[in-house]
Amino acid sequence: MSVPSRDLPSRVTIYEVGARDGLQNEKALIPTETKAEFVRRLVAAGLPVVEATSFVHPRWVPQLADAAELMSGLTDETSGLGDSARDLPVLVPNERGLDRALELGLRHIAVFGSATETFASKNLNRTLDEQFAMFAPTVERARGSGMDVRAYVSMCFGDPWEGAVPIEQVVDVGRRMLDLGASQLSLGDTIGVGTAGHVTALVEAFVAAGVGVDRLALHFHDTYGQALSNVQAGLRAGITTYDASAGGLGGCPYAESATGNLATEDLVWLLTGLGIEHGVDLASLVATSTWMAEHLGRPSPSAVVRALGGRPADTITP
Ligand code: HMG
Ligand code: MG
Repeated sequence: MSVPSRDLPSRVTIYEVGARDGLQNEKALIPTETKAEFVRRLVAAGLPVVEATSFVHPRWVPQLADAAELMSGLTDETSGLGDSARDLPVLVPNERGLDRALELGLRHIAVFGSATETFASKNLNRTLDEQFAMFAPTVERARGSGMDVRAYVSMCFGDPWEGAVPIEQVVDVGRRMLDLGASQLSLGDTIGVGTAGHVTALVEAFVAAGVGVDRLALHFHDTYGQALSNVQAGLRAGITTYDASAGGLGGCPYAESATGNLATEDLVWLLTGLGIEHGVDLASLVATSTWMAEHLGRPSPSAVVRALGGRPADTITP
């Protein structure tokens, strides 16, 4: 039963990262056409934003080495999504990645920084300060070409090498990412250690630093089972964009303790129960994640996919 809660947003945007964060850590190479089908099915399920892939160095993330092939197939008028596929965001770390995205006429990129020195080095081969030197010309040229730019910050709640990450450090890095010209800042709990009170404190610190909740998104990994509880803290703080990955796929190849992302189905179940609009068709999303789990050869880690996977659509609701 859907029981609307007072004082929560009436609508949220789900930013789907399954095709990127979800697949980037898969060891066995997935055929490009399977990835394209995954993206098309996610769009068809009503997800308003579907991050498709990464224009990173192919040696750093071999699974996504086919980014250009995937995006050119998706923008094909006959077999893909046509011009609308150019609105699917892609990760871009530097100007080389931007060039590759510009060649395809893509309109949305995301740069991704780290709140800690160690992860900046492991994920980007840069110091914390050097990462900004890499992003600045990238964002400037992207904006100058009419692109929208999202910025991620990783390790906002804890870092496997450095431990606790001070809130002021995260706010400082986040402000610097926004000051480059990003329209939205996604705060990543890369290793899933955050808890609800920490979410509240972090969002409050950003607001106190002059960053409105309308510019923030939350990106939870469910490693310690806290993701949905953290979403509720975010909702109470007024955040209306949540990153999630279909079927709970995911992990970061450069942070071994980063396991699955918050499953989109689990998020949809919570939002529906709270009477919060999201626009996603749960039955077709579950069917998509079940199909992808068969391709990957293991069951989905999402509780909702496991519960609903074999059932006829729409017989059970929150
Ligand atoms: P580098 O080795 O320092 O690169 O890597 P470089 O700038 O020294 O360039 C070396 C060579 O790589 C050059 O070629 C470049 O052209 C080439 P050469 O002249 O030697 O022939 N190159 C590229 N080729 C293709 N595409 C590119 C590119 N860039 C350089 N974009 C680099 C630096 C940033 C490239 C590398 O560290 C990298 O690709 N890192 C990506 C790591 C990654 O994708 N991690 C996962 C995503 S982050 C994440 O999952 C967290 C998130 O979900 C939020 C959360 O959960 O917290 C977003
Ligand atoms: Mg992530």
